[in-house]
Amino acid sequence: MSIAVGTNSQVFLLSTGNTSYAFGIDDRGLVRHLYWGKKLPSADELEMPVLTEVSTNDPVFEITPEEFPVHGGLRYKEHCLKVTFPDGTRELVYRYDGYDTEQGDGWEELVLHLKDEHYAFRMDLHYKLYPAYDLMERTVVLKNEMEEPLQIEQLHSAQFHIPYENLNFSNVHGHWGAEEQPFTQRVSYGKILIENRRGTSSHNHNPYFILDRDATETSGEVFFGALRLTGNFSGVVEQTPYGETLVQMGINPHDCLLALEPGQTLTAPAILCGYSATGFETMSHNLHRFALDHIMSAGLRPVLYNSWEATEFHVNCRDQIKLAQKASELGAELFVLDDGWFGERHSIQNGLGDWYVNEGKFPNGLEELIDAVKEQGMKFGLWVEPEMVNPKAKLYQDHPDWIYHYDTRVTDTSRVQYVLNVTKPEVQEFIYNMLDNLLTRYDIDYIKWDANRPISQTGPQRDIWYNHIQFIYHVVTELKKKHPDVLFEACASGGGRIDYGILGIFDDFWTSDNTDAYDRLYIQNSYSRIYPIKAMRAWVTDCPNFLSGRVIPLTFRFHSAMMGSLGIGCNILKFTPEEVALAQKMIAQYKEIRPIIQEGAFYRLDNPSADQYFLYEYLKGDKGVLFAFLPQSKVGHRGTTVRLRGLEEDARYTVHTSQGDIVKSGSYLMDHGLPLHLSGDYASVLVQFEKNQ
Ligand code: DGJ
Repeated sequence: MSIAVGTNSQVFLLSTGNTSYAFGIDDRGLVRHLYWGKKLPSADELEMPVLTEVSTNDPVFEITPEEFPVHGGLRYKEHCLKVTFPDGTRELVYRYDGYDTEQGDGWEELVLHLKDEHYAFRMDLHYKLYPAYDLMERTVVLKNEMEEPLQIEQLHSAQFHIPYENLNFSNVHGHWGAEEQPFTQRVSYGKILIENRRGTSSHNHNPYFILDRDATETSGEVFFGALRLTGNFSGVVEQTPYGETLVQMGINPHDCLLALEPGQTLTAPAILCGYSATGFETMSHNLHRFALDHIMSAGLRPVLYNSWEATEFHVNCRDQIKLAQKASELGAELFVLDDGWFGERHSIQNGLGDWYVNEGKFPNGLEELIDAVKEQGMKFGLWVEPEMVNPKAKLYQDHPDWIYHYDTRVTDTSRVQYVLNVTKPEVQEFIYNMLDNLLTRYDIDYIKWDANRPISQTGPQRDIWYNHIQFIYHVVTELKKKHPDVLFEACASGGGRIDYGILGIFDDFWTSDNTDAYDRLYIQNSYSRIYPIKAMRAWVTDCPNFLSGRVIPLTFRFHSAMMGSLGIGCNILKFTPEEVALAQKMIAQYKEIRPIIQEGAFYRLDNPSADQYFLYEYLKGDKGVLFAFLPQSKVGHRGTTVRLRGLEEDARYTVHTSQGDIVKSGSYLMDHGLPLHLSGDYASVLVQFEKNQ
């Protein structure tokens, strides 16, 4: 059993393979945090220290490490929940009301029941354990059992307590074309707030926390959690004056008000969390394995060709067929027709909302292209941006009231488009029918779902910040029931929708519009800390890169993109015979190593050299792959030493280097390591190895 209850039934110890998490009910009925860290043997050893006020200014409420602090009482700290009851009361006073446990295949769950002392309002704290992954999912379910609605002003899904000061907090910052830029800062006094207010989750900060005590990839304590929400989130990290650090995450209260109708329940977005005593690598491995086994759809992702960077809006059937034929010749398995195929979509000015095939571009319908793609033995994918409309589009002319807006204000466009109010039933019907019709009429295997502007000027409704994305989850879930073999790619102007809320409903992430192979090494590196490689779409594109202007050899570009789910976005009709041959070779090699890349364990290897080598390893069963990149040689042209990880110490491995095979023990490869010397700029190698039988 992973859930142990103390003999007095007031203390709970939740354990996974290597970790434990504990809390109890104190004499005031508060759910008090007790422990998070390495595995503890017994719930009976846990104690509930008696807390006394530090001073009249620092009452017991304030210093109690609560699992789910609410607004009210002598609490001045951050609260997870603030509601307004029908009579205007804004204070919550909860009492413990028992617990339940449940278990299923590979998981166990504890549900702690809390109820308000006066109002018919319940809060159930859920702790779902996945022992094999050292992970837990926390959420809260709110229930309104009153006769009238209540208002939710603030809902963070959980609070975590870490009994240390001076931790490091890591997340990412960025913007369009520069997602996943990592930062780490020392937590000190005051609060760190990460959030999104644009209706997306992730160009800027990403909805997760990593708090560590000077950990490395392979050592040190790491506490982490990833919020399962796309859209406006907020996360607060605070080092309190009482010697601990707390962190909360959930729905961003910014401009948001949610009503809970009589009889209704609301489940807060879950937080997938865990503890590692062995550094960041264990954190990533546990999250990646869990995502592969429990969140993502099965199957290897196809090598795709996407024509966006090659043709942009200059789409026509003849050229797309030529590109498809060439893509197939190179070895691509899926051809994706991006923006520009529909309505009067010749630029960003028009078309969004008018989802009929443009006859000028496809005089014989989309079937002509799809047939040609299928003749090549490839799958077919189509780009859509269903939440949006251009002011010039017929859809907007017919339904100007379908967008988010205030009646008395002018609504701003962004990328010349408005956001549809997808909380309106008629808009929901329109979006579902439009997509269902496309998927029913055409032989489509893949949908790239884009969203190219943030939400603003929502109109009077303050719940859309949460309900907008709930509809997107819902409509894709419904479409998949009817069209179960279609894969969906989540894209929002690049990597605007990378999070554990959308993953699983959608199958792939478009990681970034920044396809520069060097920039991508940074983006992919920080992406990999939390998110699984299989979902990371990475394309090889043309040089000079449209964003960076950089010119990088095709081999390096391939190696960089082969680190994820490979895609090609070049104008391949312009490839020289040498480039065609290289692309064919690389794609064939990718297919061979694809299970290792997409489903293997991923290692960010240490680089002991002063030169900036990027070293990555993938391992699945007996087979492994090493990528090494050197963007720029410095004076001295130093080499590096590659110390592999995750091997069996006593086993022998054959490493296939360009100079010939090397046979060494796992210990040698992990502890002594192999010398590697790249020279020149944008040098890279891909090395395969396997365990000897
Ligand atoms: C933004 C996406 O990130 C691109 O890949 C492309 O699909 C464009 N939108 C099309 O407008």
